[in-house]
Amino acid sequence: MNEITIQSPFDMHIHLRDTEMLKLVAPLTSHTFAGGVIMPNLVPPVETKEAVVAYKNRILEAINNDDFIPFMTLFFKPYTNEFLENVKDEIIAIKLYPAGITTNSEGGISVIDTVALAPTLNAMSNLNIPLCVHGETNGFVMDREKEFMSVYEALAVAFPKLKIIMEHITTKEAVDLVKKYDNLFATITLQHLIITLDDVVGGMLKPHLFCKPIAKRPEDRDALLEIALSGNSKIMFGSDSAPHPKHKKEACGCAAGVFTSPIALQVLVELFEKNDKLENLDNFISKNAIDIYGLKKSKKSIKLIKKDFVVPAQYEGFGEVVVPMYAGETISWSLKE
Ligand code: NCD
Ligand code: ZN
Repeated sequence: MNEITIQSPFDMHIHLRDTEMLKLVAPLTSHTFAGGVIMPNLVPPVETKEAVVAYKNRILEAINNDDFIPFMTLFFKPYTNEFLENVKDEIIAIKLYPAGITTNSEGGISVIDTVALAPTLNAMSNLNIPLCVHGETNGFVMDREKEFMSVYEALAVAFPKLKIIMEHITTKEAVDLVKKYDNLFATITLQHLIITLDDVVGGMLKPHLFCKPIAKRPEDRDALLEIALSGNSKIMFGSDSAPHPKHKKEACGCAAGVFTSPIALQVLVELFEKNDKLENLDNFISKNAIDIYGLKKSKKSIKLIKKDFVVPAQYEGFGEVVVPMYAGETISWSLKE
């Protein structure tokens, strides 16, 4: 196959940041995606209706007239039923971060207790607002996600009608767990389908591949790849594209996050084609998200052509510089302009 058309691609987990970085990176997502779930970990976090609406408007301004729906989220904290009822039409989900676990998550939840959080989670469940979760403990870095499985189970059991999205899963334990409970779903990033920890630290240190959760073992990567390629209805693409200024990545104390927006769609096509599973790409990148979140399919379609594309060494603009995954390397699919 030399050409492919992707209908209504959705990126169900992205960081678009704010101010100048937003202006640089938002068009790189809105160009190739029909919509995306926008993470709320700004400084300060997005936690009021006014902040959601204002941020959405800044995104719409940054993407100019691109046909792209920003699906907004709130930063999880205890909220009243009244507040949630009032904000629900503006958001697609609420994102829970364990306190301090990743970029700008200091205001997150220290102890994820199903009793203490029940008022908010029951209200979300009744109002049909999904809960997105960054599932890591503060244990040893390779075990953080695995250790969090008991928290996911406790949430899934205590709130059976609440849709719980296990964000950016990286382990075979998470792949097993998502299948076990009807109300658990998951997103998987591009990088976790491709790399292992070896690619990050096994040779020369690769700061641009460093993210949270960190890439794990080959058997984890293989389990993620298998479930994504199968088109399993509980699994959605969420790039977790997380741009940081180049000087904060190439630094002593490298910020966590891999920037994949400009190449995500092309590399997914490459990956599904290489594995002879192109027929399941629509599930992973569109249909499952539509079914899980109850979205409308977009009329937007993106044409790609099998032609080498040399990924830019960096993207620059508005005084910002950001380095994408595969910077300077050649990928085998290009956008058909
Ligand atoms: C994300 C960021 O930079 O905001 N970083 C990351 O490594 N993925 C936050 C997150 O999703 O954990
Ligand atoms: Zn993220």
